[in-house]
Order: sequence, then C-alpha cells, then structure tokens
Amino acid sequence: MNLSNVCDEIKPSAIRRMFNKALEFDSPINFALGEPDFTASDNVVEAGCKAIKEGQTKYTANAGILSLRRAISNNLEKQTNIFYEAETSIVVTPGAMGALYLSLKTVLNKNDEVIINGPYWTNYVQQVILNGGKPIFVRTLEHQDFDLDLNALQNAVNTKTKAIIINSPANPTGGILSHNTLQAISDIAIRNDLFVISDEVYKYITYDGHQYKSIAEFDGMKERTIIVDSFSKTYAMTGWRVGFAAGPAEIIGNITKFQEDTAACAATPCQYAALEALEGSQNHLKHMVTQYKMRRDYLCNAINSTPLLSCNVPKGTFYLFVNIRDTGMTSEAFAMSLLEEKQVVVVPGTAFGEMGEGYVRISYATSMETIKEGVSRIQEYIEKIC
Ligand SMILES: Cc1ncc(COP(=O)(O)O)c(C=O)c1O
Repeated sequence: MNLSNVCDEIKPSAIRRMFNKALEFDSPINFALGEPDFTASDNVVEAGCKAIKEGQTKYTANAGILSLRRAISNNLEKQTNIFYEAETSIVVTPGAMGALYLSLKTVLNKNDEVIINGPYWTNYVQQVILNGGKPIFVRTLEHQDFDLDLNALQNAVNTKTKAIIINSPANPTGGILSHNTLQAISDIAIRNDLFVISDEVYKYITYDGHQYKSIAEFDGMKERTIIVDSFSKTYAMTGWRVGFAAGPAEIIGNITKFQEDTAACAATPCQYAALEALEGSQNHLKHMVTQYKMRRDYLCNAINSTPLLSCNVPKGTFYLFVNIRDTGMTSEAFAMSLLEEKQVVVVPGTAFGEMGEGYVRISYATSMETIKEGVSRIQEYIEKIC
C-alpha cells in the first residue's frame, strides 16, 4: 500500500515488545506497568456515573466544561501562584497525550528541532516526528541524581531549535530537575526564543519533601511555557482520558481549534469525574503516595543490597531506574534473560532511548506482595549469574 512515510518512521516501543514476550508465560511478575495499580476513588467513579445517568453525554465545548477549567485554574494558582484564565488559557484534552500532541502541532514547523531530556518517555519522540519535527536528546545524569546536563543542553541549541520538552518528575528515572536547572533552562529558552513544554503528570507523586516547581513560575517563562498535565497518574484515572494544557491564550486558542478537528473534546462524563477529583477529598492521592513511598523504600534497599545492581533513590514517580552495568549485559539482554529465567518483566532502559543503555526500569505501581516476590526472583537470578 502506498502509505505515508511516517508509518515507517514510527516504531512500536520496546515496552510493547516486552509485554508481547511476557504473554508467553503463565503468571509473570510484572514490573513494567506505567500506570497506578489503584483505581479512581469512589467519589470520582460516582461523579462519572452520575454524569452519565443525568445525560451529560453530549459533546462539550472543544476546550472542555468551564467548571473543570475553572477548577484547574484554581488548582494551578494554588500550586504555582500563576493565574491561568479558565476561558482563554486552559484546554481540557484526552489525556496529557492529547495536550502534548496538539501543543507540538501548535508550535512546530517542518524540521524544527525539539530538545528532549533523556532517558525519555518514548511518546515524546513519536509525537515530535508525527508533527514533522526532529527530536534532539540531552541527557540527565545518574551521578547528578538525573538532573540535566546543562552544557549539553547549551550545545544542543541552534537556529533550528524551536522547543524544549521537560518532564519532571521524570519517567523513567524518577528524577526531579533542580531549581538551578530550571533557572538555566529558562535563561536558555528566553535567550533563544524557545517554547518549553513542561510535562507535569507526576507532579504530585513526590517523596521526602521534594517540592515540585513548575518552570512556568520563573520570570519571563509563563508566556513561553505550555504546561501539560492530566488526571491519569494523580487520580489513578489513566483510562478515563482526561488531561489539559495551560499556557498563553494564543497557543491554547489554537490547540482548542485543532481539537475541534480531532477529538472534539475529552469524554464528557469523564470531565465531570475529573472535576470531582479536583474538588473532592484528596485523601486517595495521599494514600497512594504513602503506599508508593513504602514500596520505593523497600525496593531501593533490596536493589542496593543486591550484587551487580544499584539505583538512585527516586524523588518522584513510581519508577526505579536500576543500573545493571556491572552484570556486563545490555539492558535488552538482561530484561529478556530475567523474563525467561525468572518470569519477571522489567523494561530495558533502551526503551527510553540510547541513553537508557545500562539500566532497566522497574515500576512499583504494583502490590507489596508482588514486589517482594519479584525482588526475591531478581536476587536468585543475580546469584545465578554472579
Ligand atoms: C511522562 C508521561 N507523560 C504523559 C503520560 C501520559 O499521560 P496521559 O495518560 O494523561 O495521556 C505518561 C504515561 O505514562 C507519562 O509517563
């Protein structure tokens, strides 16, 4: 068939390959999940059901229901001290992915370069390519607690650079960009007239008092930053598909226009559920973060006391990026062999770009019982190859 060239440019992710391979085994221990093992809280589920029963099942405005945009605006103002006008500067989208895709559509021309902090969530690359842009990678460094290599960032900027995507707290490393790094990125963005797309979907999943700060809060940044966020991770609502973009009115207006031509709007009952998630009790979120922290602590201790393996203690998210270099194996070989020998599924670091070589990602969005069984299998595996 004579299809678009982009069909060949977009490759299925290595995470998908691991999932497919894992299907060959009866009941593997799955550390590959990129979503909370919790479900949305009862009040959120009830709000979604109520909306359906009350007939809130038609299209909404392309930008989403105003009450939800107002709640997002209040929440952002509380968190960042920045006011985003609900009517003009916020658009509700099908997940953060919807917001990210249309943000890139709004700012990119063909062959514009987009800098991505890596190891990175793979969809950034695919979305940049789908929008005709060229992804350029700048690494975050393990020995700097997965903060950005600022020299590399400075060197990556040229006249074709249009935007920088940052993700903090980051998938897959669990790192949080430091205040100094955010300031340096802001300076570079302002000096070179760049947009910053700030993916903040893990902003509430942080530990040990690590406070999240949005780059939009830095001087001169609100007018060039698009905040991309969603209800997926914060409220365990991955399948509900509600996210949003907040940014300059001109950009949000264009995203809203494009949304009319693509999804039309985020699913209506889910928007009402998201409204309840923001306005109702935040206890479920607190409970989830407490559980993630207990799991993180257990896993970090176990991994760091296992020969050949080590990891930084993640500051946020529910991922552990484990250094496996001392095994002498590639990430992919390690992950495949661990699966075949012990039926434990981890994601090879290279699923997050070449910079992920030498690592595997373990998701602790799974029960403590599963984590304990998985850890003991990993330790048996390491004993065998030692
Ligand atoms: C960094 C990052 N951004 C965005 C998303 C997608 O979020 P959503 O479900 O809201 O589209 C994910 C999902 O794994 C993610 O890890």
